[in-house]
Amino acid sequence: MDDHMERILWTEDEISKRVSELASQISADFASLSPSSPPPVFVGVATGAFLFLSDLVRCIKFPISVDLIRVESYGSGTQSSGAPSISSNLKIDVNGKHVVVVEDIVDTGHTLSCLLEHLKSKGASSVSVCTFLDKRARRKVEFDLVGEGKFYRGFECPDAFVVGYGMDFAELYRNLPYVGVLKPELYN
Ligand code: PRP
Ligand code: MN
Ligand code: MG
Repeated sequence: MDDHMERILWTEDEISKRVSELASQISADFASLSPSSPPPVFVGVATGAFLFLSDLVRCIKFPISVDLIRVESYGSGTQSSGAPSISSNLKIDVNGKHVVVVEDIVDTGHTLSCLLEHLKSKGASSVSVCTFLDKRARRKVEFDLVGEGKFYRGFECPDAFVVGYGMDFAELYRNLPYVGVLKPELYN
């Protein structure tokens, strides 16, 4: 698959270093939580966030719960439909709990905005977002974090079609350990 890449944006080593920095930042921010409050719930957004979620939570050294949610918007193409829907729901009741949404990438913001509304309606006492990549240049909708929730980003992403480290094109390339830009002839 390496020969399908136009260029590599972040190597496996760079990713792993940044992920542990994010985990330290989150741990420091949650350190002041009262020991009697329920453990925060880390909610990974399937499918894209699966590698980032597993790497991130392995670096967290205090008790947390982990769950998955599925929000679909892209189908198999490269353009967001703009109308995401929740297709697989949480197992954990997040009412009264602090939630950290774990995403691989925030692009237009539609997926995140849908999720934040959903988690707010489920009674989460705060919702933070930890996204591996933030493609800010393409944001179409702004979103409101819930309560005292914070926004964590691994890297700001250039406006290119990136794959790897969980991110796909037509369900391929998710298993690459690095993030690269796909050669345009492969998706045009
Ligand atoms: C991708 C990505 C984010 C979302 C971001 O997921 O993993 O979840 O799009 O796009 P947005 O900010 O424009 O909404 P996708 O819908 O492709 O599903 P996947 O995670 O299964 O690949
Ligand atoms: Mn996704
Ligand atoms: Mg996708």
